[in-house]
Amino acid sequence: MLNIKINYRHCLDFVSEKDIQSYQNKIDKYHHALWHKTDKGHDFLGWTDVASRTSNAELQSIENIAAKLKAKSDIFVVVGIGGSYLGARAVIEALQPHFAYLQNTEVPQIVYAGHHLSEDYLYDLLQVLDANDYSMAVISKSGTTTEPALAFRILKQHIERKYGKTEAAKRIVAITDAKKGALKSLATQEAYTTLVVPDDIGGRFSVLSPVGLLPIAMAGFDIRALVQGAKAMELACKNSADITQNPAALYAALRHALLDKGKQIEIMVNYLPALFYFSEWWKQLYGESEGKQHKGIFPAAVSNTTDLHSMGQYIQDGQRLMFETVLSVENSKYQVNIPEDNANIDGLNYLTDKSITAINHFAEIGTTLAHIDGGVPNIRIQIPEIKEHILGELIYFYEFACGLSAYMLGVNPFDQPGVEDYKRNMFALLGKPGFETETKKIQTRLKR
Ligand code: PA5
Repeated sequence: MLNIKINYRHCLDFVSEKDIQSYQNKIDKYHHALWHKTDKGHDFLGWTDVASRTSNAELQSIENIAAKLKAKSDIFVVVGIGGSYLGARAVIEALQPHFAYLQNTEVPQIVYAGHHLSEDYLYDLLQVLDANDYSMAVISKSGTTTEPALAFRILKQHIERKYGKTEAAKRIVAITDAKKGALKSLATQEAYTTLVVPDDIGGRFSVLSPVGLLPIAMAGFDIRALVQGAKAMELACKNSADITQNPAALYAALRHALLDKGKQIEIMVNYLPALFYFSEWWKQLYGESEGKQHKGIFPAAVSNTTDLHSMGQYIQDGQRLMFETVLSVENSKYQVNIPEDNANIDGLNYLTDKSITAINHFAEIGTTLAHIDGGVPNIRIQIPEIKEHILGELIYFYEFACGLSAYMLGVNPFDQPGVEDYKRNMFALLGKPGFETETKKIQTRLKR
């Protein structure tokens, strides 16, 4: 039994059951293409069965590496960008206590580097690493991405100065391609423990590979349950393409039915700060997979009720371009009830003994109804609680729906030609060898 339920009754004022059903033929076609590797990017479909292919021995080896590093680390630095860090961060931040960084936990604090070019961030990180024991994973499939490569160069020198070269090498895990790339060469030369990003899995689809599993295990979470959950969803997505049976197929059909009615923006809505990075991961997955050839639904996200006090105005009353997909969580881990107050000066006694989660649910229902009245269709993806198994299901669900949905747009979900353009300009401006012609062109352009 799957834990995820999709409720789309609040779309039916905008699209009919018949509209949604009309996508079944396309879904059948691309469901077949995903499982038989017959369409664009078919060399990058390893994620479709990575959960069921991951052996007990592979999980054990990741757990063993994590156990060794945990024993000697207060901090674990995850160096990576995009798909090489967001999936791990999404799962870790969904599961860890909100104030983990202020608490004495038995597991290391997970911190991130190499996901931007902030000098002050790196300076601050080095100060913290001076004062604490740490280890790190450097994650890059290509092994050549500028941001993590720069951060790693700095961190490598720091860790070698702190512990000496031999011990430093024991505190570094490289997660990269099996054969190629600068990081692979470096890892071999320095004898780092190395885990492989499978050839047939691209960054944003890699959270269920060692890319996500090692950091998640370092944070003390159950990677076996995560993988089990993904396996359950993999089975459901493999067994049937029918939108009444396969939740990812239904979600893909709903997105396209809404796009067809002019809804070009999808806002992923959560009502829990723990899901902030889950939305970030989802934005990357859909944005980088679908946004090609001037097509694609623009993925945006809000975190409510915080954003009801900012973006809520636009969603209620701005341009009518969007639909919302709420990731709704039924139960919290803990309960905090509203206490009775004799003076009742704030007038809140009518909520006495109610839990914050119950109030949050009413905020969600009230908002959904208001937004529907305002012309914003609403898909609700409901899960009972946030835990590893369910996050595994959710990850696979979003990935499979993304593959289907991008194919339905006619684009290759697994490449990202558009991200090369900024890199070319940046390298030209930085004077990278080999970019001399671009450097001249760009200098002329900037003088205009
Ligand atoms: O999804 C993707 O392919 C990208 O977001 C990559 O993960 C990101 O650019 C980092 O690439 P790499 O792992 O090669 O450093």
